[in-house]
Amino acid sequence: MTSAPGDVPAIEFRDVVKRFGDNVVLDGLNFSVAQGDRVTLIGPSGSGKTTILRLLMTLEESNGGLILIDGDPYTHEYKGKKWVEIPEKRRRQVRRRVGMVFQQFNLFPNMTVLENIIEAPMHVLGRSRKDAIARAEELLEQVGMTEKRDFRTTELSGGQQQRVAIARALAMDPEILLLDEVTSALDPEIVADVLEVLRDIAKNTDITMLLVTHEMQFAREVSNRVLMFDHGRIIEEAPPEEIFTDPREERTREFLSAVVSN
Ligand SMILES: Nc1ncnc2c1ncn2[C@@H]1O[C@H](COP(=O)(O)OP(=O)(O)O)[C@@H](O)[C@H]1O
Ligand SMILES: [Mg+2]
Repeated sequence: MTSAPGDVPAIEFRDVVKRFGDNVVLDGLNFSVAQGDRVTLIGPSGSGKTTILRLLMTLEESNGGLILIDGDPYTHEYKGKKWVEIPEKRRRQVRRRVGMVFQQFNLFPNMTVLENIIEAPMHVLGRSRKDAIARAEELLEQVGMTEKRDFRTTELSGGQQQRVAIARALAMDPEILLLDEVTSALDPEIVADVLEVLRDIAKNTDITMLLVTHEMQFAREVSNRVLMFDHGRIIEEAPPEEIFTDPREERTREFLSAVVSN
């Protein structure tokens, strides 16, 4: 599902600047993702892909520009003729629409699988324990982890942990799902299981997805747009069938041949 022209984008970056000390990672970045779009970010290591996702999770703060979610300002708004930071409460409300799955899973290690999934729905959304458990069980079924419900996450393999992390993100009913190299830390033989779960989500929901991946075949299957990123800028964007077969930019061509020959 892609939104009609004129619809408000799910995600919009306007001249976003992000620096770490003297290192300017994003230098006035502009891009938007339409409602229901599936967008893949590709680009060399260190080019700022994770930073973009972390800004969207408010795990990092920008140093300039504007980020909007469904047209709602996420960082600053123009009020009384000047830019002011939006109140923390409103920022948290907007943030609830966004879920993220990390390369390193980031599950709560001292909790069981079930507890990991019901924690935020209960404490952030105020769901009852009963409702949170019912939804968690549905999701565990969906990611093929029903049998591990009461295991500690430290007792699970990487692939299993990642499937739990996906269920945990979905338990918040996000409108936007961010996926940061979710298969990069996994053994090759279990990558397929995790990709299958994500393929299923892409097919059966209309969640807006912004993903970073080096799995080009997967990017091709699930995304309708690919953004090639280099030094904090988008240097090329195209549908996957175009960019993967006939990239316009030399830099994209070099990057893709390096990734494929890996
Ligand atoms: N917390 C941090 N402190 C300092 N520098 C950081 C931090 N996070 C990322 N960077 C730097 O920002 C740049 C972009 O990193 P990142 O967004 O992780 O790139 P990518 O995900 O494309 O590999 C890199 O130069 C990295 O070293
Ligand atoms: Mg990264």
